[in-house]
Amino acid sequence: MKYNDIDFNNKTILITGAAGFIGSNLAFYFQENFPDANVIALDCFRSGQTFSNGNLKSFGHFKNLIGFKGTVISGDINDTDLLKRLAIQYSFDYIFHQAAISDTTVNEQDLMIKTNVNAYEELLKIAINHNANMVYASSGATYGDASSPQTVGNEAPSNVYGFSKLMMDNISYSYINKNPNISIVGLRYFNVYGPREFYKNKTASTVVQFGHQILKGNAPKLFEGSDKILRDFIYIEDVIQANIKACAPKKSGVYNVGTGKARSFQAIADTLQKELGTNFQTEYIPNPYIGQYQFHTEANMKETKKNLDFEARFELEDGIKAYIPEIKRLFNDEVK
Ligand SMILES: NC(=O)c1ccc[n+]([C@@H]2O[C@H](COP(=O)([O-])OP(=O)(O)OC[C@H]3O[C@@H](n4cnc5c(N)ncnc54)[C@H](O)[C@@H]3O)[C@@H](O)[C@H]2O)c1
Repeated sequence: MKYNDIDFNNKTILITGAAGFIGSNLAFYFQENFPDANVIALDCFRSGQTFSNGNLKSFGHFKNLIGFKGTVISGDINDTDLLKRLAIQYSFDYIFHQAAISDTTVNEQDLMIKTNVNAYEELLKIAINHNANMVYASSGATYGDASSPQTVGNEAPSNVYGFSKLMMDNISYSYINKNPNISIVGLRYFNVYGPREFYKNKTASTVVQFGHQILKGNAPKLFEGSDKILRDFIYIEDVIQANIKACAPKKSGVYNVGTGKARSFQAIADTLQKELGTNFQTEYIPNPYIGQYQFHTEANMKETKKNLDFEARFELEDGIKAYIPEIKRLFNDEVK
């Protein structure tokens, strides 16, 4: 599906974090819609190393790129020599920067800031030198527990991950102010779900996790008070739509990417049960993340609609319905 008139054929496109959830979906979007685009997929890929929270340091997985025909590079965005080599070897037209420590529960502040903030600035310098559009992943986590609807300019990050994304946005503003002719767009994704998130393990959305609990024949396990924990859940296809619309001329800025609607985790479990034809009683477990947890997110979408002409096409129920066949395939191939 094409979202605007931009022709990405014969363009050189760098996707960082391309073996991850959103990056790999972008890679296939270009392959399917612009077969003559030259897509360079950079990711550090998983090694088995873990952070102190026990989760993998990288969720990049080759299986997310099976069928991809472009160039795959395994490398670390913190490696300045690698970035220099890439900047010499290629002339980028677009950079879609998705690589990051995406796990909001990581406590290693040093590596979080280095990877998410400092490496971003190095990539931004390459974009500016190449006169490439930079579209990068910011996050709804910049808002922390700020009141709904969350609006750009009113941030209150409650973990180092959210802080790192806010610092990326601040860097972007300072470059945009110095050079209004360059195109830098930050997209504050809210809670994204959909195909190719499975390899994020415990940090994958509750949609796929509840889906697999139900397919195993178990009741979905929700945090206590889940009817009162509301989030803005956005389907991956809408996130791709936002990335493409961010490439139109003169769009520099930071924008929310959500549906503009707050939905409960209970609604996810109920919709999945409806789609999968089950009727289990929900189980409730204590929430271990209290203090670091967002209880009500709902993106203010006014500016995104006005400036990027973006509106989510998928309501929660539509996204879950579209995702069900892949949830079942994963269950049969990877979980059972
Ligand atoms: N999925 C969401 O709900 C969501 C919400 C808000 C923001 N985001 C942001 O969107 C982007 C993509 O997220 P995702 O859900 O696809 O996560 P993901 O973890 O699946 O993808 C991130 C990728 O970056 C790679 N990476 C990490 N550190 C790297 C490094 N030093 N060098 C090279 N590659 C590295 C990982 O291997 C991984 O494949 C991230 O920046 C994330 O913070 C995601």
